[in-house]
Amino acid sequence: QVQTDLAQTVEPGWLRRWQTASRHLTLGHLVGMGMFGHVIKAKLKISTGEITTVAAKAVRRKDTQCYRNFYTEAAILVALHEDQHHDNLRSNIIQLLGLVNEASRKYILMEYASKGNLLRLLRRTRRQNGTASLPHHLRYAIHIARARALQELQRLAITHCDVAARNVLITADDVAKLADFGLARDVYATVQYVTDDGREQRQDNKENEVLPLNWMSLESLEKGEYTCQSDVWSFGVLLWEIAAQGQEPRYDGNNNPSCRQLAQTLRRGIRLRRPPECSGEVYVVMNSCWQELPSERPDPNVLEEKLQQVQHAMI
Ligand code: ADE
Repeated sequence: QVQTDLAQTVEPGWLRRWQTASRHLTLGHLVGMGMFGHVIKAKLKISTGEITTVAAKAVRRKDTQCYRNFYTEAAILVALHEDQHHDNLRSNIIQLLGLVNEASRKYILMEYASKGNLLRLLRRTRRQNGTASLPHHLRYAIHIARARALQELQRLAITHCDVAARNVLITADDVAKLADFGLARDVYATVQYVTDDGREQRQDNKENEVLPLNWMSLESLEKGEYTCQSDVWSFGVLLWEIAAQGQEPRYDGNNNPSCRQLAQTLRRGIRLRRPPECSGEVYVVMNSCWQELPSERPDPNVLEEKLQQVQHAMI
């Protein structure tokens, strides 16, 4: 039997501090489905008695992998939100509102981002207008590069490991927020999990996971190495998705490559092609994220500045 009730065995302090009782929550309809979890729109009664709209993320299946993903995401969001420099109001990281951790009900409660994820938004815009809205959409990339998102992760030595348009949410006031920390890693403290046979297992076992290969850096593919610089590589792919208006990134002549095949392609210097709508300047920025040597990739603050210059020149 899968041992899933971390709360019943060793309820860590961070879980207790963010605990919300499920009776304060009224579930609505499904708004998103990911590999490990699904997201439901819900109403939450907060301590003042007010009702607020939230997104409640639950495990997709009751298996070890989904629970592992769930607790990783919860732990990382708590670590981010408990940092003294974290600023909820101005953050470009999705806001954590509480955790429901009851035997049969487990939810991560987050702010509700009414415009949904960036990938869907890009595809919708392409269908509706047929024209590129690149300068406008670059704003979202700038939000993700900036001080309250990738730069904050870098400061806290947290790697997201899945930076992609599908994991960027857009709020009602058109602000991009990084979400989906289920694959993230904290280089200082690793969350421990209890596996099927009761052994404790560390989180850094990614063997059985479905990996987002076409977003991954060379060193992640070759050595399973994840750093803030590998998040910068993935950020380059996110830029590509924006420029290509939500098309799926694919390397030439590589349909469903294995990890090794893709690493070989990248070693040969092959990179994603410039989408037709993409200006040379934007393509230069994304290529800088795909430098073979992690140390030669730009810092998020440099990216923010470069993108602002490029965007400015467009309008
Ligand atoms: N889909 C996934 N997470 C969401 C959120 N926080 N708000 C709206 N839609 C979502």
